[in-house]
Amino acid sequence: MSYALITGGATGLGRGFSNALADLGYNLIITSRNYNNLVTAKKEIEQKYSNKVQIFVADLTDEMARKNLYEYTKFYDVDVLINNAGVGYSENFLDGKLEKEAAIINLNVEAAHYIFKHYYQEFTEKKKGRIINVSSIASFIPCSYAATYGASKAYLTSLSLAVSLEAKAHNVKVQTLAPGSIKTDFYKTAGTKEKSYRGKPNKIARKAIESKKSLILPGFKAKLMYFCIRIFPRCLVQRITARGQKRKKLT
Ligand SMILES: NC(=O)c1ccc[n+]([C@@H]2O[C@H](COP(=O)([O-])OP(=O)(O)OC[C@H]3O[C@@H](n4cnc5c(N)ncnc54)[C@H](OP(=O)(O)O)[C@@H]3O)[C@@H](O)[C@H]2O)c1
Repeated sequence: MSYALITGGATGLGRGFSNALADLGYNLIITSRNYNNLVTAKKEIEQKYSNKVQIFVADLTDEMARKNLYEYTKFYDVDVLINNAGVGYSENFLDGKLEKEAAIINLNVEAAHYIFKHYYQEFTEKKKGRIINVSSIASFIPCSYAATYGASKAYLTSLSLAVSLEAKAHNVKVQTLAPGSIKTDFYKTAGTKEKSYRGKPNKIARKAIESKKSLILPGFKAKLMYFCIRIFPRCLVQRITARGQKRKKLT
């Protein structure tokens, strides 16, 4: 069986993808900066399934680490990429720490772009493969009080949706996942309240894997939010979103 590469595959939504893909019989390559999380995920998945799980420690914002990952994955028949690693940050733009915003841009924009491009080129050469870029419903709204995060995901959604049409000529499937809130450790890096997050990572990952759509809106809530964003005036949706963001933020 071929391999699926899941960035941030040891925890949260990424772990949901690892479980769902292992369930389908894929061998896995999972990445994270945290070795212990990778080892735990590997043990748990290998105990439950007979699949192989390879682990790769990398800070994906580091260009050399990304290059090492590309070299490492050459030894495996990777034909699924879940481009999932991402961080959030909830703060008004005036007081927001530049280094936190830079971390978002370096991971959610730059690393996501480079990793997407690398495997897209590999998959088009092989004329097979599937890529799911993990974006957010926040990518469709100017996201006041989490402006950099929203903008980073807007970049990824736009890039991914644009490429999904081009990819058809190469027999490669490119999909964009735009979930609403998910109960993961995301709130810790984003500086938000844990109780604001409800969606189940395993369920959302499974829905994404089952979907054939270019834009995956997992679940009724994500679909409803997307519908509202499209039909209501932008300034109204933006105000409601801003209120939600303020409520989420740790004081
Ligand atoms: N939770 C939500 O409400 C929500 C909603 C919509 C979209 N999303 C998106 O879903 C994706 C997964 O997030 P999550 O909710 O599962 O949060 P999470 O549990 O915090 O997972 C984030 C993952 O990214 C990895 N990561 C962070 N910084 C990294 C770096 N510099 N280099 C390599 N890996 C790094 C983390 O592993 P290490 O820290 O060990 O490196 C972790 O596995 C993100 O793209 C996020 O934007 C989340």
